[in-house]
Amino acid sequence: MKITPVSEHVGAEVSEIDIRRLTDGDTATLLQAWGQHGVLFFRDQELTPDDHITFAERFAPIDVNKFFQPVETHPQIAQVLKEPDQLGNIGGGWHTDHSYDQIPAKGSILLAREVPPEGGDTRFLSVAAAYDALSDGLKATLETLSAHHTNVHIFGAGSKHMDKADNRLQNPENVGSAIHPVVIKHPTTGQKLLYVNLAFTTRLISADGHEWTEEESRPLIDYLLGHTAEGGFDYQFSWDEGSLAMWDNRSTWHWALNDYQGHRRLMHRITIAGEALSAAAS
Ligand SMILES: [Fe+2]
Repeated sequence: MKITPVSEHVGAEVSEIDIRRLTDGDTATLLQAWGQHGVLFFRDQELTPDDHITFAERFAPIDVNKFFQPVETHPQIAQVLKEPDQLGNIGGGWHTDHSYDQIPAKGSILLAREVPPEGGDTRFLSVAAAYDALSDGLKATLETLSAHHTNVHIFGAGSKHMDKADNRLQNPENVGSAIHPVVIKHPTTGQKLLYVNLAFTTRLISADGHEWTEEESRPLIDYLLGHTAEGGFDYQFSWDEGSLAMWDNRSTWHWALNDYQGHRRLMHRITIAGEALSAAAS
């Protein structure tokens, strides 16, 4: 197997590998590379749904998403689908998956089944690099803060987002919220990671547990989002049928570009379970 970094801050392409036939040594090498690069890309993989599940379970148990239509024959796999007549897409903005869960998913393993002739790329970025680029003063302040994450405004009853993405499962009674440190420590690499995102982070909480209002929180959250999105910490991946990306939900953000109107795009996603997050300062 060959592992080639694809950008300065995030991502590596893994080649000369058939992920249906991994040894335990291969898995250990991939885990190490995953921690180092945040997202790993594979091309030309011929996977059945069962192969996809077997690959995912090498890294962690599957964490079934409550808001996606499952693949009919394999409920562990979520179907991320945009039909030619749909305008909105799923994941069309910088975010990380499942930050509204008490124990957010470790990562997602996305396999391209049908891709548009052009467009439909996914951007990824490193929130480790985003954290590192902040001043020591702001880092020290952020390490004392927590943030509230929720999906009520996206998946809850009456959300305009659910109208746009009508291939998503309507499941408003399963919405959820969680509080996480603003700067977390990666559970395996120990890297410090900026853990706020555009989709789900709504307000800040001080070290002694007192809540900021949303109005007070917004400028600082927006500064951090802008710094992260615009800092040059990103890489854009172009999919072919049989491409697979596995990303770490703690150390990266991703954004599915919606630039292929009139074409169908079908991806199969498996999300795998993570561990409780701890503060970088602890
Ligand atoms: Fe996502």
